[in-house]
Amino acid sequence: MKSKSVKGFSKFSKSEKISWLISNYLHNDPEAESIISEFRLQNHSVQKTLDGFSENTISNFIIPYGLAPNFLIDGEVYCVPMAIEESSVVAAAASAAKYWQDRGGFTTKIIGTVKIGQVHFKWSGDKQLLYRLFPTIRELLIDNTAHITQNMIKRGGGILNAELLDFTDEEPGLYQIRAYFETCDSMGANFINSVLECFADTLETIFLHHKDIPDEHRDIDIIMSILSNYTPQCLVRAEVSCKISELGTFANGMLAHQLAEKFRMAVRIAQIDPYRATTHNKGIYNGIDAVVLATGNDFRAIEAAGHTYAARDGQYRSLSYCEIEDETFRFWLEVPLALGTIGGLTSLHPLAKKTLEILGNPSAEKLMRIIASVGLAQNFAAVKSLVTTGIQQGHMKMHLMNILNQLQASDSEIEATVRFFEDKVISFAGVRDYVDSLRQS
Ligand code: MEV
Repeated sequence: MKSKSVKGFSKFSKSEKISWLISNYLHNDPEAESIISEFRLQNHSVQKTLDGFSENTISNFIIPYGLAPNFLIDGEVYCVPMAIEESSVVAAAASAAKYWQDRGGFTTKIIGTVKIGQVHFKWSGDKQLLYRLFPTIRELLIDNTAHITQNMIKRGGGILNAELLDFTDEEPGLYQIRAYFETCDSMGANFINSVLECFADTLETIFLHHKDIPDEHRDIDIIMSILSNYTPQCLVRAEVSCKISELGTFANGMLAHQLAEKFRMAVRIAQIDPYRATTHNKGIYNGIDAVVLATGNDFRAIEAAGHTYAARDGQYRSLSYCEIEDETFRFWLEVPLALGTIGGLTSLHPLAKKTLEILGNPSAEKLMRIIASVGLAQNFAAVKSLVTTGIQQGHMKMHLMNILNQLQASDSEIEATVRFFEDKVISFAGVRDYVDSLRQS
């Protein structure tokens, strides 16, 4: 491996990076360069923008961008763009959207929009003194951030509060300032982190000069200042409901009340068992992540928050709930979604910008409502398939198309193969043999 190390790689030009890569890791494969350049954009200025998002970029990794229309959410119909590579996700979202469009659509509620940041520090002085001084400290901390917060305050946001938390039982001298923020339509990571770093500087100054701090305790050790991606107070609920009799009938002759009960039990299982809950919630994030990504938001942050929220009572559980009462089927999702519709990638990535335009340039709150509804739709489609036909039927149809693409099948070969495999188990070898047989005949 030693010979494959490199110095000053970030200073190489793009073509130097590619040549180095091909000769060191791709056995001088003559096709490698063309594959890498095939995925680069012809439009140099857009490519330059994309390159600017990250470091050491040599190409783009492209994933499909699809549309799920007919999302009726709080009385408005949306066509939702989704960026995802997994077969069946967009088809399932679109079909659940259509299904619920005919039954009143999705209704949503914003439960909160508060975000959180933390300054962790160590101090070996008197705890009572620290708590006594904290109201004064808090005022100074907030006042000193005026140059950072003034625009956010004009937009209706800013710092909502800051509190002092004591972790000294777990670690001697460890405290935290936990601050609460409203960041309006921006995700707010830069804003929050700038405020926190300013808090940290101010804290050091206060401890250095405050008359009540004893000289032997003027040293405060700032460990780190960073927003928390756990946002349980930036929360949205999306819901669907209808009379059981309106649910319709399902595959294999399943009746509405049978579907409703099995569905409720499937969601209940995901409340009880973390192994099932993880897969269940993964299905929800199939939908959520795809829209988060398409809008240029940070899907890692969104998922991290959701999984912590799912474990908030100490056990990892389903993020969605189902209830049957008075012959009514009710299915809902409660999920933390800290999103932005201005700033960051949302305005820099040309396709993310288009996604927001397709969604009617929503506020962050509206985007929370849309994305939670897509997560719920995705969950509905997955659980409905699981308790009726099983998941493989839909997956295999898409899988068949992927195999046919790989075999470079013609339109007539596709048509014949799809017909032939309608009632058969699909495998790569089976499809390849059938296409071969068509080609030979
Ligand atoms: C597959 O990507 C997602 C599902 O496994 C979700 C679920 O089981 O609920 C189908």
